[in-house]
Amino acid sequence: MARLFFNVLSYLLFAGLPLSSATADTSAAPDVTSALSFSSSKWIWNSATATANAVVGLRKDFTPPFGKFLIATEIIITAVNSLDLYVNGNFIGPGTPPNRGRFAHRYCADLLPSFNVFAVNASTTASGPIAAAVSAGLLATILVTYEDGTTDILTTDSSWRAMVVGSYDVTPWNTVLVNIPADPPALSLAASGAQWVWTDVVPNDDTAVALPRRLVTSLASASITISADNEYTLYVNGVTIGSGTNWSIAQSYTVNFATAPSEVVLAVLVTNTAVSVAGLLVSMQVNMVPSGRTNCIAGTFDQSGALWVSTKGVIPTGFDQPGFDDSAWPAAVGQVNYLQAPWNTLTVAAVAPITI
Ligand SMILES: *[C@@H]1O[C@H](CO)[C@@H](O)[C@H](O)[C@H]1NC(C)=O
Ligand SMILES: *[C@@H]1O[C@H](CO)[C@@H](O)[C@H](O)[C@H]1NC(C)=O
Repeated sequence: MARLFFNVLSYLLFAGLPLSSATADTSAAPDVTSALSFSSSKWIWNSATATANAVVGLRKDFTPPFGKFLIATEIIITAVNSLDLYVNGNFIGPGTPPNRGRFAHRYCADLLPSFNVFAVNASTTASGPIAAAVSAGLLATILVTYEDGTTDILTTDSSWRAMVVGSYDVTPWNTVLVNIPADPPALSLAASGAQWVWTDVVPNDDTAVALPRRLVTSLASASITISADNEYTLYVNGVTIGSGTNWSIAQSYTVNFATAPSEVVLAVLVTNTAVSVAGLLVSMQVNMVPSGRTNCIAGTFDQSGALWVSTKGVIPTGFDQPGFDDSAWPAAVGQVNYLQAPWNTLTVAAVAPITI
C-alpha cells in the first residue's frame, strides 16, 4: 500500500486592517455579501512583456453617472504573483502569496460619493513576453453600490491605465475561481473550479502537497471542502479536523476559531490504497473579521491546483504545524478540474462545525 502524504499549508495575509476609508453616508449600506465572478474580467499588466520583480502600477478612476452617489465596494482580486490594493490612497489589503495560483481575495471598503481611484501595485517573478510560459497579470472584479441601493460592476479591462494581456480562463492563467458566491460566501467545488492534484508520479507513490505561506489576522472561520482518492486526514493548525475514505463523497468542514489565529495551516495526509488513479481535491475559504464594512464578508479563497507544492517519501515531522517550511518542495501536478473524468461529480456531505 502506498502512503501518500499531502501537506497543505496556507498562511493568509491581511495586514493593514482596518480597511475602511473616509466615506459618505453609510446608512444605505449593502446588507448582504454579493456574488461576484471573474468571468468577464481581463488579465491586465503594465506591458505585454513582464520584468521579474519590477513593481508596476495599475489604476482605474471611476466617477459615477450624474445624480448617483457611491457608498461602498466589494472587490475580488488576484495577481500573478503579488499585489497591494488601494482605494483612494487607503491600503485595503494584499494578495501576496508566492505563485501558487487559483487564489483570490475578497475585500469590502467604503467609497467616496463621487470620484474614486482603485489602484494596485503588483509584481511578478517571471520575465518575458506574457504568453503560455509567462503568466504575469492582475485580475479583478469590482462591485460598486450607490446610495440608492443600485450597483455597477467594474472589471479589469482596457479602461484601466494598463494593457489587456489575456482573457479570463485562457492559457496560461486558466480558471482562477469561476464564481465567488453570495452571503454566506461558501465556496462550492463546482463554483471554485478546483483541480485534482497529485505529485509528478501518478498513480502510486508517496507524496505531500502544500500551499503558500500567508499570514492571517482577525479570522472568523474557514470552510474546507475536500476529497481524496483514496483516503485523507485533514489538519488545521495541527488539529485533526476529519478524514474521508470514499472519494465519491467529499466532506465540507466549517472550522471556527475560538481565538483568531495569526495564520492558518491546512495540512492533508493522503493514502492511495490501490494501484490506480490518485488525486486530492480541495476548495477552501477563510472568512475575515473585520471585513472593512458591516455586513460584508471579506476573505481569501483558494483551491487545489498545479501550483501547490508537494513532497514524498519520508514526511517531515511537523508538516501540519504553522511555521513549517515547505519552500523547497516541488510542485504538484494538476490533473483534471472538478466535474471531469475519472472522478466526475461528487456528493458533498456537510460536517457539523468544529471550533478549535
Ligand atoms: C507596492 O509598493 C510598496 C511601496 O513602494 C511596496 O512596499 C510593496 O512591496 C509594493 N507591492 C508589490 C506587490 O509590489
Ligand atoms: C462510496 O460511496 C458511494 C456513494 O454512497 C457508494 O456507492 C460506494 O459504494 C462507496 N464506496 C465504498 C468503497 O464504500
